[in-house]
Order: sequence, then C-alpha cells, then structure tokens
Amino acid sequence: MHLSNPGEKSRLNLRTLPFPLKVLATCFLLTMGIGYLFGLAYLYLVDLEPHADQRLSLVEAVISKYYGKRGGSRLEAALAGAMGEYVTQAEKKQIAQWIKEGAGEAEFVNVQPILNQACATCHSRETGMPIPPLTTYREVSPYTAVDLGQSIKSLVRVSHIHLFGMSFIFLLTSFIFAFSEISSPIRSALIGIPFIAIWVDIGSWWFTKYEPAFAYTVIGGGVLMGVALAIQIGVSLFEMWLARPKGKGEGET
Ligand code: HEC
Repeated sequence: MHLSNPGEKSRLNLRTLPFPLKVLATCFLLTMGIGYLFGLAYLYLVDLEPHADQRLSLVEAVISKYYGKRGGSRLEAALAGAMGEYVTQAEKKQIAQWIKEGAGEAEFVNVQPILNQACATCHSRETGMPIPPLTTYREVSPYTAVDLGQSIKSLVRVSHIHLFGMSFIFLLTSFIFAFSEISSPIRSALIGIPFIAIWVDIGSWWFTKYEPAFAYTVIGGGVLMGVALAIQIGVSLFEMWLARPKGKGEGET
C-alpha cells in the first residue's frame, strides 16, 4: 500500500534534504532565532526597563505606550520616570508649573535653561541620538500636550514595517517547517498561527490606543508569535539533524 503511493513516499522532507540545503536552512533558522532574542531584548530595554522604576507591570507598560497616560503630558510622564534623575525636585516643579499654565512660548524662557543644562547633553540635534531634541520651544511643545500614547503617524510607521518584515520572516521559516514530518493538520495550524498572531498583535496596538484592555491581546499575540517561531525552528532543526527515520520498516526497506 505504501509502495503504491509514490507521491507520499518520495515527499521531500527535512530529514532527507540535500546537505547544502540543510546548511542553508539551519543558518537561516538560527539567525532568525537569535534575531528574535535581540527583538525581545530591545523590547525589554526600550519599553519595559524605563518603566521598571515606576513599578509598572508589563500590561501597564503596554497601556502607557499605546494608550498613553491620559493624566499628564509626555514631558511630565518622562520626568516622572527615567528622565527624572537629570533634574532636581525644584526644577521638576518649575517645568510642571509651566505646563500647567498652558506651556506658552513667552514663558518658555523659564524652563529653557533647565532643559539646556539637564537634557540637551542627549536631547539635542548635535548628539545625533535617535531621541527627540528638546532645546527650542518648537521642539518641546509637542511633549507638553496630554500623553495620548504613540501617535497615529508612528503607529502607521511601525505597523507597516512590522507587517512586511514579520510576514517575510514567517514566510521563510514556515516554508522550511512545511517540509516537516509532523501531521498535516498540526503543521498547517503551526504555519497559520504566527500570521494570525501578527494580525492580533499589530491590530491590538491600534485598539489599545483607544481601549487599554487590548493591552492583553498585544501581549497574547506577541507570546503566540514567539512560541510558534520557537516550535518552527526547534522542530525543523531537530528533524534535519537529529531525527531517525521512522522505524516502520515498510517504506524504508
Ligand atoms: C543621558 C541621556 C539623556 C538625558 C540626560 C535625558 N534623556 Fe530623555 N531620553 C533619553 C533616551 C535614550 C530616551 C529614549 C528611551 C526612553 O524612552 O527611555 C529618552 C526619552 C525621553 C522622552 C520620551 C520621548 C518620547 O518619544 O516620548 C522625553 C520626553 C525625554 N526623554 C525628556 C527628557 C528631559 C526633559 C530630560 C532632562 C530633564 C532628559 N530627557 C534627559 C536620554 C536622555
């Protein structure tokens, strides 16, 4: 019966992949895995660690990123967090006072020296750091509005970058994984799940901007994506290098 089904028997699989293709697939999968770990590290350093001293949970950090802190301005939020260490309590008050009074251009002279002295070492055009310059009124003004989370413009930017980038990553990892010997329904699910996770994750960024409860689906989508990627990489590497031929005998002898 097995022999009368040559299509199934000769199906290309990871175990019998030509050696050069195994090397290619392995190098690619390992690089993707390492890239993903760096992605997690970046997420931690940029989105979580700056919030750690505010004792924000992961969910609260996600909410603050997309929904914002509707209670105050981004400048105050920054000063209440990681940026607070660069100014004295009195200077913080002075900046808060300026914002409370409407953050007018005429009164900017009261806070400009503080910013120039405490912040411009990093937040100025000269440093070339990828953070907003805060030396002139025009540069500071956007940060005195109430914190509504990530702007539409930057959400559009990160959304399209991630949709293109992630789909190519999963196209290639899934393509390799598709030759695994796992049963077809499970294989199909593990190929579809990461794409669904991308939609859930990125869609939830947008929903969280308007409804903080979606922070949970942001995290859920991210976790699902990571787990699916880990399974795809793990199974593919295992089958290429470690799996023994199925010991059924019939097809092999
Ligand atoms: C040692 C360098 C350094 C100094 C000094 C510094 N910052 Fe920052 N700042 C950063 C970095 C790096 C980021 C981006 C990462 C982050 O959000 O923590 C940042 C982010 C910010 C943001 C958030 C920008 C955004 O996109 O929402 C604000 C606002 C800010 N800083 C204000 C200030 C103010 C006000 C001061 C002075 C009291 C200051 N910073 C001093 C390095 C610095």
